Amino acid sequence: MNPEKRDTEQYVDLGHTEVENHLKEQAALYEKRLKEGQAANKVAAYFATNLLGFAYHYAKSRFGPKAPYQFYPRNGDDGLYPLHTFTDTVTLALLSDWATDTPESDLIGNLVRDLDPDYSIHLGDVYFVGTPSEVKANFTDPTASWHFGKHGSLALSGNHEMYSNGSAYFKELLPAMKIRKGGTIATQQAGFFCLEHEHWRIIGLDTGYTSTNRPFLEVLFKPDCHLRDEQLNWLRDQVRLHDVSDTRGIIFLSHHPYFSSFRDDHPVVGRQLRKLFGDANRPVIWIWGHEHRLSFYDKYGFPDGVQAWGRCVGHGGMPVETDAPDQGHLGQLRLYDRRVRERIRRKDIGYNGFALMSITGPDIEINYIDQNKVTVVTERWHVDRKTGGLTPETVFIHPDITRFDP
Ligand SMILES: [Fe+2]
Repeated sequence: MNPEKRDTEQYVDLGHTEVENHLKEQAALYEKRLKEGQAANKVAAYFATNLLGFAYHYAKSRFGPKAPYQFYPRNGDDGLYPLHTFTDTVTLALLSDWATDTPESDLIGNLVRDLDPDYSIHLGDVYFVGTPSEVKANFTDPTASWHFGKHGSLALSGNHEMYSNGSAYFKELLPAMKIRKGGTIATQQAGFFCLEHEHWRIIGLDTGYTSTNRPFLEVLFKPDCHLRDEQLNWLRDQVRLHDVSDTRGIIFLSHHPYFSSFRDDHPVVGRQLRKLFGDANRPVIWIWGHEHRLSFYDKYGFPDGVQAWGRCVGHGGMPVETDAPDQGHLGQLRLYDRRVRERIRRKDIGYNGFALMSITGPDIEINYIDQNKVTVVTERWHVDRKTGGLTPETVFIHPDITRFDP
């Protein structure tokens, strides 16, 4: 193992405020220097990294301007990519909140490498604050454990990428994300995209860019993660969500949850999409991360919002939360994984994992696989090409997965 590899323990109790995350980044630097340096340097290292270093880091990355928003068309790319495979089945690995550079994220990265899917997609959050060195350690360094799919990789932005104003996301991570487009290899140009074939469209949504606001102001006015106009225009003009003659099944991917029984809802996004759909509106599958857990919901939608079967796969690399649900949508919550893997600092930690989606014509199978290679849930979906309607079927639930009965 890389001696500089981060320890899961560093992520226990990781809060969701920006200041906290900047401090954690500095703490990680401190511990690294502590290991490398002499005992006499400890105090100096602590002050240099935790106080001056923090002030420098915060001022440099947080108070500066947000990276310019990138959108299509850009460098000749429209953000629409045909799904490629060498067989009859297209496979996609979906990982979220994975980029922690820990033994756990290596484990998950290695499982994906063994499966060698056609595509691998990160649903966002590069820890702690999405700096160039963190992008390098997780994705672009020769020793990094991100596995690039046979036909490509794509990355959504989470809130953590934006804690450093998104510059490493746009300047370092996106240029590394390559994807086959017919006979050419494209480079990801924006924080949203559409993968598609004859029967399905997988649409990655950018909710990260609008998940932060001005420092301090965002405490008073909580960002709503809305889709910016440039993205809405793309969904209207390129993806053509309103096209009633397009009856392909639709899967949305985003970093932030549309709704949750554990933390914040983001209803604005579903309302924006519902408006774009117009008469072509139909229920969708929506897979998100952000919460460090695996959970499954029945179909639900806010008034004036799209109806969606929600799945949270935010258990990619962070310590997995095992607490019980305590807020809304308890009527929709169906399954969640609260198996305890170990106890760190008197906290129960669950199992990391990812989703493997296999698309064969109008049918999809999704296996939710944990870090021990155990499939914990298998579900299948069929799209009715006359209507675009979806039929779900849960074919396997591991006996230790919690079934929620409100
Ligand atoms: Fe997040």
